[in-house]
Amino acid sequence: LGHTIHFFEEVDSTQRIAAKLAYEGAPEGTLVVAEEQKAGRGRLDRKWFSPKGTGIWMSLILRPPIPPQRAPQLTLLVAVAISQAIQEVTGLVPDIKWPNDILLHGKKGVGILTELQADPDRVHSVIVGIGINVNQTAEQFPEDIRAIATSLAIEKGERIKRAPLIQEILLRIERLYKQYLAHGFRSIKLLWEGYAVSIGKPVTARTLGGTIRGIARGITEDGLLILEDEEQNTHYIHSADIQL
Ligand code: BTN
Repeated sequence: LGHTIHFFEEVDSTQRIAAKLAYEGAPEGTLVVAEEQKAGRGRLDRKWFSPKGTGIWMSLILRPPIPPQRAPQLTLLVAVAISQAIQEVTGLVPDIKWPNDILLHGKKGVGILTELQADPDRVHSVIVGIGINVNQTAEQFPEDIRAIATSLAIEKGERIKRAPLIQEILLRIERLYKQYLAHGFRSIKLLWEGYAVSIGKPVTARTLGGTIRGIARGITEDGLLILEDEEQNTHYIHSADIQL
């Protein structure tokens, strides 16, 4: 992965560029990296703050031979790979909040956005967008997210070099992705659960269909969150915002 890297000083969103390249047939492993994004996108139609030079803003093209309903597994796989890489490079031990927020001491330091180009039965490409707050100071975050956002440098107490971290992330994604293609999701799921903070705890899930309160029981083989509500009904959550 990452044999072909498209590097930009400034883009609207690496996600948009990678999607266009994927559509035009770019091979698996193609990576788009930018110093700065003017219109970085987050999950659930949010903006992703992507200032110049302080973070890792990149999008990776994968072409897994899987049906679209298994794509959430890849998001979880990438969250594990990034957590491993952060741990390896910085010594910090991240937590994962389902599906793919990576927390450092309870604050969000990493976001992952996966988007698909697919037919009903087959994925053509998965665009994995990765945003990592690396060297921002607290004051550099917009006021409205300062209380909930953090960077690796804030948590580590020193600046972190971005290039070795990118390299480690690609290596880890590649390793887990090979394991996933050869043996399926099971072993990845175990690794994910090792980093997960929400499992076994009361959470509130805000979905498009409404809010569900309950205990997070784990994830399914497809990567859905299993939530048991107060009446012991089991819900399988595909997409939601989780509050601990
Ligand atoms: C989230 O909401 O947690 C996901 C944030 C994903 C941000 C990354 S930065 C690189 C890529 N390009 C984008 O516009 N978004 C993703």
